[in-house]
Amino acid sequence: MTVVLGIESSCDETAVAIVNDQRQILAQALSSQYAEHAAYGGVVPEIAARAHLAHIDALYTRALADARLTLADIDAIAVTAGPGLIGGVMVGVMVGKALAAAGKKPIIAVNHLEGHALTVRLTNDAQFPYFLLLVSGGHCQMLLVQNVGDYALIGTTRDDALGEAFDKCAKLLGLSYPGGPAVEAAARGGNPLRYALPMPMRGTEHADFSFSGLKTAVRLLIEAEAKRMGALNETIIADIAASFQHTVVEIVGERVSRALSMREYPSLTALAVAGGVAANQALKAGLKTLAAEHELPLLVAPPALCTDNAAMIAWAGLERLRLGKIDDLSFEPRARWPLAANG
Ligand code: KG4
Ligand code: ZN
Repeated sequence: MTVVLGIESSCDETAVAIVNDQRQILAQALSSQYAEHAAYGGVVPEIAARAHLAHIDALYTRALADARLTLADIDAIAVTAGPGLIGGVMVGVMVGKALAAAGKKPIIAVNHLEGHALTVRLTNDAQFPYFLLLVSGGHCQMLLVQNVGDYALIGTTRDDALGEAFDKCAKLLGLSYPGGPAVEAAARGGNPLRYALPMPMRGTEHADFSFSGLKTAVRLLIEAEAKRMGALNETIIADIAASFQHTVVEIVGERVSRALSMREYPSLTALAVAGGVAANQALKAGLKTLAAEHELPLLVAPPALCTDNAAMIAWAGLERLRLGKIDDLSFEPRARWPLAANG
């Protein structure tokens, strides 16, 4: 049996996990930095890097203890080498390289986006090729996942990522950080049809996204409602959150539909959704209907494996290891690292 230890530290989650080739997660130790960043309404890179450094040792020790393993039992070390906030990526890469050198283990430099892209193979045994909607705080893309390391970009955002739009909407509404789950919770009691918001890019021939116009529209709406009412009340907050979420689900559905029908694909096995925003129930429900229309199963990992985690990094490392795609200790942490050859 092959066992890989993964390390993730590219944004605001420090995580260490251990997976095996039977698609089992043997341990998952994770520390979120919500408290550290909450006061700023977003991730502060310098604070993030220091927090990774403060937590990573304990998480490594806990992961091994939870799996009842020692470093000697690990076959390879997989670490996020980018893209991400460079200070955080450096912390993970430094620890990963140290463990690989000390334990004389192979090391695999994993692209964080590949971790998200291959998660449905860990959770659902997805087979290639599949269509992937990758929606996170930093990325918003549609990809054809053809094989490990073989991705074709179909569409991407021209401005903001979808998670970023959720976070911005939450901030404008005075909701807590991180914004995605807060908007989803506020939307639960709201009227999704109360406010009509713009749907940028809708109906266009390509499969790209844009969310900056929607963000501006939400800001203007909030300013107008605050002026009209004196202050936002709970009903207005819920109705704006619900209207925003409803609009986003419509936009994403239309864009995925466009992407699926605009070209011929090799016989797809599934429509997969990955990245933090894939944890959103309303988005999942909308995409389920759409997948059925295209006669594809919808594959979404459980929420804890949609948001950043190290199991996905360990898994991507394991997939690479099986193909002999290992690295040497000379690789550098990267702030930018596109996943697809064409983007
Ligand atoms: O994949 P991820 O954990 O980190 C990045 O690689 O960016 O994604 C984080 C993003 C954040 O913008 C967060 O607000 C969003 O995913 N998110 C959600 C939900 N949970 C997390 N957005 C909408 N609904 C959710 N339930
Ligand atoms: Zn991510």
